[in-house]
Amino acid sequence: MKFAFAKPALPTALPKSGTVVVTVATERALGAAGQELDQKTGGSITRAMKASRFTGKREETLAILAPAGVEFDRILLVGLGKPEEASETAFQAAGGALIAALDKSGETEASVLLDLPTGSALTPADAAAELAFGAHLRSYRFDKYRTTEKKDAKPSLKKVTVLTADADAAKRAYGKLETLAESVLFTRDLVSEPANVIHPESLAERCKELAEVGVQVEILDLKKLKKLGMGALLGVAQGSAFEPRVVVMRWDGNPDAEDRRPVAFIGKGVTFDTGGISIKPAAGMEDMKWDMGGAAVVIGTMRALAARKAKVNAVGIVGLVENMPSGTAQRPGDVVTSLSGQTIEVINTDAEGRLVLADCLWYAQDSFKPRLMIDLATLTGAVIIALGHEHAGLFANNDELAEALAAAGRTVGEPLWRLPLGDAYDKDINSDIADVKNVGSGRGAGSIIAAQFLKRFINDLPWAHIDIAGVVWSKKDTATVPKGGTAFGVRLLDRFVADYHEGK
Ligand code: BES
Ligand code: MN
Ligand code: ZN
Repeated sequence: MKFAFAKPALPTALPKSGTVVVTVATERALGAAGQELDQKTGGSITRAMKASRFTGKREETLAILAPAGVEFDRILLVGLGKPEEASETAFQAAGGALIAALDKSGETEASVLLDLPTGSALTPADAAAELAFGAHLRSYRFDKYRTTEKKDAKPSLKKVTVLTADADAAKRAYGKLETLAESVLFTRDLVSEPANVIHPESLAERCKELAEVGVQVEILDLKKLKKLGMGALLGVAQGSAFEPRVVVMRWDGNPDAEDRRPVAFIGKGVTFDTGGISIKPAAGMEDMKWDMGGAAVVIGTMRALAARKAKVNAVGIVGLVENMPSGTAQRPGDVVTSLSGQTIEVINTDAEGRLVLADCLWYAQDSFKPRLMIDLATLTGAVIIALGHEHAGLFANNDELAEALAAAGRTVGEPLWRLPLGDAYDKDINSDIADVKNVGSGRGAGSIIAAQFLKRFINDLPWAHIDIAGVVWSKKDTATVPKGGTAFGVRLLDRFVADYHEGK
């Protein structure tokens, strides 16, 4: 899909073909461009709105085919919602909605007449860029393995041009958003790939691509991991035919900062989770290809920060393993020694993510002395029971960090919901024969117990854990996220850095 920006040539030169998209605020409020087009088409727009239930709500669309008085083929009305709520996500949603409406229509080209409602906090150029950003995100499709799909079943739209007075400013604003969208799409690709294609060794190779945008990439192989003593991570990996990898990605975008300590992102990269010897039921097990979603988000975030040359020092660390049952797999009851020195009794081999993270978190603190750490993981099924697919679970040992992350999430439309930590939960993971066990004794509070386990490996620094098990994959289309891998977290972390850690 191509996106372009141009000055509108109204009233004289409307496009001769394709679709003209008009944004409409609630209560069927047409802006200046909409009104002009309405007049040119003999009131078609007002009539069509009256004849339908279209009122201009966010994501609503209405197509008017073969409008009178103009040469092009179709007018598409796209709702912006309430004028006072015309924020960046409203324009992104409008961009997404136009893609959804046109991709099945056979249309190949669309021009957007963007009417900024009075009261919107955005400049026309920013609104245009956000609309294109939303369209870009929504137009994603993972179709590389579809070899027999008929042409008329494929999405048709090829080009979207946003018409706005300050086209140059819009183009500049879109430049940064475009690199972010590319990083989101890169992440979605990684999450969508099956586990025979993305495994620890191949995912580590994919990380090397980040060198193109200036990220330093270091791969720790089996020998190195053994030498370091990452016994918890190695225990998970030992049942797989693939070797584990830990990848360290560094972006030093603020080398002259007074406080050069990096922000650290840590990701769970279980490229497939069978459960190991504590094997999962067959139904739905294919979902566990996306158990590397936390790692994919960390990789995508590092790519995004570097691609826009963010003024921040950041390090991303991902633990890549495959959790398989086999003759070499670890057994329930095994005791492993983690990198921290703490011993862990592995009661359930399916609680493997926390074992991988324990060593990666320790390594991050020990090697990089970060100012703060944020880990992302598809850690527990229990977080889906608690929050469904709408919020990711947030845990933190620091209120300021928790609030900053939650705020960034609200701004970009990737919402977090904080859940508690507490000593009473922690008691439940004391082991009779080792320092800690990897599951609690009851069935309650599974996500909190997992977070408590991680906390045992956190020293004195601000830390947050984001459980993305419910949001990493979507079974339905939403405004800017087609069903499939979502890359939930990339936009959030990019914004978190921009709003709280850039240039500091
Ligand atoms: N990767 C899973 C978590 C998961 C399960 C995500 C289902 C999405 C859907 C994780 O490794 C896991 O298996 N967790 C167990 C923990 C349990 C054994 C304490 C779980 O949630 O069932
Ligand atoms: Mn598991
Ligand atoms: Zn898992």
